[in-house]
Amino acid sequence: MKPIKITSSTQSFKTIKADASIIFIVNKKLKTPLSINEKIFKTMGYKGEGFLFDQINKTLYYGIKDLSADSLREAGYTVIKYFKNLPFSSLKMICYGTESEMQALLIGLFLGNYNFEFYKSEKISHPIKEVIFAKEGYDKSSKAPTATMIKKAEILAQAICDVRDVVNLAPQEATPAYLANWAKNVAKTSKISCKVLDKKALIKEKMGAFLAVNRASIHEPALIHLNYKPKNAKSRIVLVGKGLTYDCGGLSLKPSDFMTTMKADKSGGCAVIGILQAVANLGLPIEVHGIVGATENMIGGNAYKPDDILISREGKSIEVRNTDAEGRLVLVDCLSYAQDLAPDILIDFATLTGACVVGLGEYTSGIMGYNENLKIRFEDSALRSGELCARLPFNRHLEKLLESKVADICNISNSRYGGAITAGLFLGAFIREDYKDKWLHIDIAGPAYVEKEWDINPYGASGAGVRACIEFISDLCGE
Ligand code: BES
Ligand code: ZN
Ligand code: ZN
Repeated sequence: MKPIKITSSTQSFKTIKADASIIFIVNKKLKTPLSINEKIFKTMGYKGEGFLFDQINKTLYYGIKDLSADSLREAGYTVIKYFKNLPFSSLKMICYGTESEMQALLIGLFLGNYNFEFYKSEKISHPIKEVIFAKEGYDKSSKAPTATMIKKAEILAQAICDVRDVVNLAPQEATPAYLANWAKNVAKTSKISCKVLDKKALIKEKMGAFLAVNRASIHEPALIHLNYKPKNAKSRIVLVGKGLTYDCGGLSLKPSDFMTTMKADKSGGCAVIGILQAVANLGLPIEVHGIVGATENMIGGNAYKPDDILISREGKSIEVRNTDAEGRLVLVDCLSYAQDLAPDILIDFATLTGACVVGLGEYTSGIMGYNENLKIRFEDSALRSGELCARLPFNRHLEKLLESKVADICNISNSRYGGAITAGLFLGAFIREDYKDKWLHIDIAGPAYVEKEWDINPYGASGAGVRACIEFISDLCGE
């Protein structure tokens, strides 16, 4: 992330020195509390929608629908993006909204400066360096951001941008070893512990399902285990992430059009690493473990096959009927390991099914699990954080579709319908009775990778899951 220094000033808007100004026009009300040069609205025929740039006063007017957190977050992102291509490096604006809305605006501002330019010869030449909030507010309820609010937004934005960077890396670069190395670096800088289980350790752990997926890859698998354990921890939450650094489908090979973007099949695992970084830097009073199952799903003479029977760490046998349903195989062994850590809450994040994208659209994650109340709580936190998600219901009829004639369970359903839920039910079959009510499965296949920019998400990885989970954990801690 390119850093922006955001500050709250005690000075008035007029007296603050900055290269340019930002003024939001709320709900087409062309009267602003600042009345800089409102004549320009008439001259330019501006009705309060979209952008208007007053070149003489170097002021950007931007129309927003209302002062909700969602509108302000997106507006913050959009105005910074607008200025990135202009030769201005400091901006000033007034305050809008109460604390939670300002928090959303701050995150939007930080994320507006994000660009994935790693492979580009020409980089953005004018990133924004500074945003100064004047003492004025849009109305009486407007709150100036405090240093704590700014720091919080920065930590969250930094985690999201780090996740985006790694997910966006090309698959030849972002291998399981790369993810493990990144996790170790996060651990070092955020003062958390990190253990990496290599192939030998996975064999010792009897992770037959995870290992089968890895078989045709030239890269060794890695199970990454991060742990943040503050002294004042109130409870323990274990997060599990699907870290497929590439998913070509294996022998049940994906068609080419569906294979591109599958570098993003590591999004769940990367989100988990980002969440641990943010939780540690925010100093939240809760113990958090992050488990990432990192491997490629490749093709070759050594590949696992449809018809293979795998023995999972939980001891259950799995009939493979489709090698492209690999995420669930990696996850069940990671979930097994995770349950040994005796979590109070267990959540997995995965780009698990195309069916979830078909069902909910590309903006929304699916929430599954056996505990309706826990699902509602996660949904509520996620929506407040600005991430879209919806609850998908399990039922016993869909569960039956996973029955196998030769093993304990089959890795795909025998119906074309309900694929997101049957994938969730497959995972659920490996959750022990004691943990059924503590577990949530979040399918982020839709929003994890963005092919057409939307909300605060540019092309590429979005960092889906990070904001939602941090909000959920903060709510758990009562912060
Ligand atoms: N990684 C994919 C799911 C996916 C699809 C993520 C589109 C993001 C965008 C997963 O491993 C997969 O291939 N799932 C199959 C399951 C099927 C074989 C039962 C799918 O969704 O088609
Ligand atoms: Zn797959
Ligand atoms: Zn996959």
